[in-house]
Amino acid sequence: MKQLIENLIKNSIYSLDKDGSVNPSLIANIRVDRTKDRAHGDFATNIAMILAKPLKKNPRQIAEDIIAALPKDDHISKVEIAGPGFINFFVNKDAISKALKDMSADPRLGIPKVKTPKTIVVDYSAPNVAKEMAVHHIRSTVIGDAVVRVLEFLGNNVIRANHIGDWGTQFGMLIAYLEKKENESGQGMDLSDFEAFYREAKECYDTDEEFAVKARHYVVLLQGGDEYCRKMWKKLVNMTMVQNQKLYDRLDVTLSDKDIMGESLYNDMLPEVVDDLMKRGIAVEDQGAVVVYLPQFKNKEGKPLGNIIRKNDGGYLYTTTDIACAKYRAQTLKADRILYFTDSRQQQHLETVWAICKKAGYVGDNVSMEHCPFGMMLGKDGKPFKTRSGGTVKLRDVLDEAEARVTNLLKERNSTLSEDEKKQVIHNIAIGAVKYADLCKNRTTDYVFDWDQMLSFEGNTAPYLQYAYSRIRAIFRKAKDPSLGDIKITCDAEEDLANKILAFAEAVQSVGDKTLPNLLCNYIFELSNLFMHFYEACPILKDDVPEDVRKSRLALCDLTAKVLKQGLSLLGINVMEQM
Ligand code: ARG
Repeated sequence: MKQLIENLIKNSIYSLDKDGSVNPSLIANIRVDRTKDRAHGDFATNIAMILAKPLKKNPRQIAEDIIAALPKDDHISKVEIAGPGFINFFVNKDAISKALKDMSADPRLGIPKVKTPKTIVVDYSAPNVAKEMAVHHIRSTVIGDAVVRVLEFLGNNVIRANHIGDWGTQFGMLIAYLEKKENESGQGMDLSDFEAFYREAKECYDTDEEFAVKARHYVVLLQGGDEYCRKMWKKLVNMTMVQNQKLYDRLDVTLSDKDIMGESLYNDMLPEVVDDLMKRGIAVEDQGAVVVYLPQFKNKEGKPLGNIIRKNDGGYLYTTTDIACAKYRAQTLKADRILYFTDSRQQQHLETVWAICKKAGYVGDNVSMEHCPFGMMLGKDGKPFKTRSGGTVKLRDVLDEAEARVTNLLKERNSTLSEDEKKQVIHNIAIGAVKYADLCKNRTTDYVFDWDQMLSFEGNTAPYLQYAYSRIRAIFRKAKDPSLGDIKITCDAEEDLANKILAFAEAVQSVGDKTLPNLLCNYIFELSNLFMHFYEACPILKDDVPEDVRKSRLALCDLTAKVLKQGLSLLGINVMEQM
């Protein structure tokens, strides 16, 4: 409907503006919005006000001209001018019915694929080897995966890039410790408690000189491609990612082994990149190190900030790797867009990397590099989310606790579900609640992790939305005749719900454009509220409801359920028939 009105306005302006005095980009960016108050129409645009300046005319006059030249269309019943020059459109109710019918018949529920698919690299999750996934990795994983699902559904070529921290000088120490453990036990080990492993390795390194010497030697060997050290290193990477994959699977996250593109992938490129930057004068030698000075970043004294890309011992840094990585994504993967889901503290790091890449021409101006930052996860006390003893909260423990709490919550309900079904329901609610709590707030803000809030069946929570879905499915189980008919709008509650359903495509598209899953969460929440309102206001299965009304309302229920299911699935959350 929105698209249609935009096109009508465009045609009207073209026919008015014969001499082309209106900048085409103004016309291309016409905005049509839904109105808040339906008494003044269903859609409105401010285009007349925007055109007032270039056309040097009064906006109300322009609005009048646009309306006069508007092509006739059956979908619109009335057009009016309001205030300083808004144009308000009243939609023909039959047109709503027709749009709903088209949407019901479309497996994509009215969401078109993009005309020109883009290659979009999404950098997300990115845990570190031999370390527990920390809170910022969870946020990155959950939010990144929702955006990935949306971009893919919109028809783009999405490349998931799990930029794991699998390289660095700490690997000498880790290899030496792995060797020690294996020698002690006389067999391979199964690394499951990363925190302990890392801590013990560090302890050996700090207290045992012989161990430290060996560790430093192993770093050199590993960097030189030594077979034994490579093998031990690979073991560490694999053990870590096997554990992480279990968490991805449990979280219904779409990442798999083939998406691992860790820091080590770019090792071979690092010497070339540094040489190239030096040869072209972008990097200079400074006290044995190689440094890039960028005028746009200044230190406290107002001098250009130096960014080391090779240390004086020849070692490379996180920045160097990310320069090579961005180059690879632009030149080899041919990305049109590169999204980085990392916490907000990495902003300066990324901006530095991008500035160097642009200056060197590694990434063209046509490539959009976007930092999609997120805030911290806080405990109920407003402080960073930690265990009682102040340690990192393990994702595994969070998921276990979520399932235990849901099991408890559901105990009191009598249910006809089998044990297997119950297990699945517990999984869906627990995982859905944890993920949704993270997704539903604007990601740029910190958010408070609150069990009671996220597991509540009321409010903007996954259980509430899942319940709305199950409730609709229950209506169909109860109906003697569950067949659907054409949707006819007979009252406000129906119309509100119908209009919301028709806004699904916009909500999904906005997540793709703005990389903010909370926009889709808000949409689904509002849809559920409108459904609950409709359900209270409009009887469906009561005996005195005429057949055509019942069938129309059942069709509205069915379409709502489909949108709920699809919408939640784009967020990575499951629904169930019964819960
Ligand atoms: N492994 C990093 C961390 O734990 C995140 C990597 C983000 N991606 C990147 N290309 N730098 O903070």
